[in-house]
Amino acid sequence: MKPILIKDLLTSAPDGRTVTVCGWVRTKRDSKNLVFIQVNDGSCFANIQLTFDRSNPQGADADNIENELKRINTGTSVKAEGVIIPSPASGQAVEVTLMKLTVLGECNPEEYPLQKNKMSMEYLRENAYLRARTNTFGAVFRVRNQMAFAVHSFFQERGFQYINAPEITCSDCEGAGEMFQVTTLSLEKIAELGVKAGQGGMKIEDAHKIVDYGKDFFGKKASLTVSGQLEAETLATALSRVYTFGPTFRAENSNTPRHLAEFWMIEPEMAFFDLEDDMDLQEDFVKYLLNWALTKCRDDLEFFDKRIQPGLIAQLESVVNSKFVRISYTDAIAELEKHADKFEFKPYWGCDIATEHERYLTEQIFKCPVMVYNYPKEIKSFYMKLNEDGKTVKAVDVLVPGIGELNGGSEREEDYGKLLKAIRDRGMDESIYDWYLNLRKFGTVPHSGFGMGFERLIRYVTGMENIRDVIPYPRAPKLADF
Ligand code: 4AD
Ligand code: MG
Repeated sequence: MKPILIKDLLTSAPDGRTVTVCGWVRTKRDSKNLVFIQVNDGSCFANIQLTFDRSNPQGADADNIENELKRINTGTSVKAEGVIIPSPASGQAVEVTLMKLTVLGECNPEEYPLQKNKMSMEYLRENAYLRARTNTFGAVFRVRNQMAFAVHSFFQERGFQYINAPEITCSDCEGAGEMFQVTTLSLEKIAELGVKAGQGGMKIEDAHKIVDYGKDFFGKKASLTVSGQLEAETLATALSRVYTFGPTFRAENSNTPRHLAEFWMIEPEMAFFDLEDDMDLQEDFVKYLLNWALTKCRDDLEFFDKRIQPGLIAQLESVVNSKFVRISYTDAIAELEKHADKFEFKPYWGCDIATEHERYLTEQIFKCPVMVYNYPKEIKSFYMKLNEDGKTVKAVDVLVPGIGELNGGSEREEDYGKLLKAIRDRGMDESIYDWYLNLRKFGTVPHSGFGMGFERLIRYVTGMENIRDVIPYPRAPKLADF
């Protein structure tokens, strides 16, 4: 039964060999003598054309084919046996002359959700379980696959070791309090206890006493991780160069085309790298990934260029050949202040750089990827290395056209005393971070790392507008279907 993949079939010599091919019917054209069926199996963008000529069946099982043809509509799954021949049609080198046709699964056109006139992105999102069968989503998921492979390839070629950080953790790496709690305690039970305690005159300030985390599964408050960085640092200070690539979770209530509640992040961590080395690596990484997409996903990118974002390929090519701009936060703010009239939020030294500012820097001012470094310590995370000015930290964000922030990273604070102070200044619970602090006691080294949002990368490479359309099943506020 094992069929040939259509991607292999399309590059085969049209040598009259008999093959079996399986897939889902895209279209069927049935004129007087000639039948054409376009079949796709998702292995590549293109379809294979199956043909049957009633006036010249060439030994085909004509009765079988006529019977099965009646059951074929868009979406029907089929198994076809036939002969590979050169195709007289333009745009395809080969086609298959049918010998035998088997319908594997019918598809009622009255009920099938994928109808040409209905295919808006929103509609397809509502039918996410079928959308991979469309041209757009087939291409998105093939590019996603290639980019995952490229990530491993890049790091493996450079002596990095792939590690896995835990998904369940007690620490909040980014300190933004956007964690999904993991518990086996019963909310109903706690609510019941609350009602009873209220009846007994318990004060609202004491309500938290009703929850006993000692009785929870982990014996303390636990959550899904927002980042694998802190654990990656422990492995980098043993294996030198490591990277994680896994799901991360953020309960940010942001309904934007850039945020997911569950997204995949790539987090390399390098011992003995300073911020400069970190920036070099990030630039190489982004270019490597884009170059991989341009060479390995050509057909899919041509589709995106034509139908989703005109000019995409030229843009990606220009980034691969460009030098990324590196600018300090202070200078970036000075640039932005010159264009203050363009922004809803006026930029000033000390402000968080908003998406509108990020995009203006990369799209209007520099017209290429921009690395902004040395941010005010107040707007960045506790673990970033303090500069000598005492005001800024060795952070860097990579901003790219169309997306804004693609990567965020930093050199890490390797000094025990300074790190402890940063934790205390932020009012964080230092008992949770004792192991992280201890790393700075036992053979501490300068080290750096960054995180790239995998879905942001896929958006960048495909030109897809909404981040929910580059992951098979998006998770966002009020969205956890399928
Ligand atoms: O800038 P962030 O928050 O940095 C960290 O988490 C660091 N611990 C990374 C590190 O240094 N190891 O997140 C890193 C990247 C962002 O630049 C963005 O691309 C992506 O993760 N990201 C999101 N992607 C989709 N949905 C969200 N809600 C995201 N939040 C961050
Ligand atoms: Mg960031």
